[in-house]
Amino acid sequence: MCFVLENVEQFLYLRPQLSVLTSKNTTFSLCYCRNLMASFYLASLCIMLLIKFSVTFASGNVVSNKLEKTCIDGVTIALSFGLYLNSCPEAEAIIFSWVESAVSQDPRMAASLLRLHFHDCFVNGCDASVLLDDTSNFSGEKTAGPNLNSLRGFEVIDNIKADLEYACPQTVSCADILAIAARDSVVLSGGLGWQVQMGRKDSLTASKTAANNIPGPNSNVATLVTNFQNLGLSLQDMVTLSGAHTIGKARCATFSSRLNNNNNAGVRNSEMNLDFLQSLQQLCSANNNTTLANLDDMTPSTFDNHYYVNLLSGKGLLVSDQVLATGDDDNTREIVQNYVDDPSLFLEDFKNSMLKMGSLPPPTGTNGEIRVNCRVIN
Ligand code: HEM
Repeated sequence: MCFVLENVEQFLYLRPQLSVLTSKNTTFSLCYCRNLMASFYLASLCIMLLIKFSVTFASGNVVSNKLEKTCIDGVTIALSFGLYLNSCPEAEAIIFSWVESAVSQDPRMAASLLRLHFHDCFVNGCDASVLLDDTSNFSGEKTAGPNLNSLRGFEVIDNIKADLEYACPQTVSCADILAIAARDSVVLSGGLGWQVQMGRKDSLTASKTAANNIPGPNSNVATLVTNFQNLGLSLQDMVTLSGAHTIGKARCATFSSRLNNNNNAGVRNSEMNLDFLQSLQQLCSANNNTTLANLDDMTPSTFDNHYYVNLLSGKGLLVSDQVLATGDDDNTREIVQNYVDDPSLFLEDFKNSMLKMGSLPPPTGTNGEIRVNCRVIN
């Protein structure tokens, strides 16, 4: 088996998969493919990481584990590729190791970090505005309706930032940390990795008003499509990114209307799986604001296509989930069916839609900075 590595990040996000292979006594090679430009730095880093990797898994059963150096013509380095390669070569490794340890202590953290990036990007672009605490000049986004008592993971980002500030002061932006942590969370949950574009700047302000416009859980398809399209994301991106609900949890309050009313946003209770409905009614009967249900009850912590499988059997948790399959839009229904039929299509599309979402820019003319502390502007 051969993994074609184009860069260091790919090595990093392959690490978990490689560890599974080592435990299964599988032979694999790492093929390093890159044009000459970055070969020196990448080769030295790859070798360094490879040595680290070999030491980590020295007790494993790796039969062959070699680094092949090949150059493929026409492979170019994206502008943002390796932005921190010189200035902070350990950046991605530091972020990965914090995310890995946070997720191992609390598996839900993968979902929470992924959502944090979404809630950042949907409010004036990916600029870490979501991380700012309230000041006398502005109300932060943390207390907006969709975020209050709901967003999690701020402490993990604080830890990462503190470590990065120690390793390479004022170099890696908080917005880039969010994007990389979201990617690592997907990988650690079993999804595909991708090369994160870097170079985002951190905002100098936040917008509670805009954060209140993040789509709500009772939205119908038309509202969801409009919300996403306003940001340049397509109907397909919307259906694909909703697949993030293959991991994580939601509070009863976010889907309670579904348990009582007969028709929400075009979704009827009669279309809901009866056992599922009854189990949720029982779960939420205590009327406790903190009770949580899995967004994907089949495989709650695994990044797979079961979210879509659930939708077809009437087991979507939020109204905004279920409408994608049983709402009034044939286009969303067709995409759901395609993802049910082809699990790898979803994983591949998700990666591409995350790249699109992760590159949503702040409004033109706004200035940015590299914050020292993600919670406050410098
Ligand atoms: C399409 C519109 C969307 C709506 C209406 C929506 C709504 C929600 C709601 C209501 C929750 C539960 C919050 C709580 O109970 O505290 C939730 C959780 C979550 N959302 Fe979404 N969401 C949407 C899109 C997305 C996107 C695009 C992503 C990421 C790419 C995402 C990732 C997540 C994750 C991972 C969780 C679980 C978080 C955790 O367990 O901490 N969502 N979402």
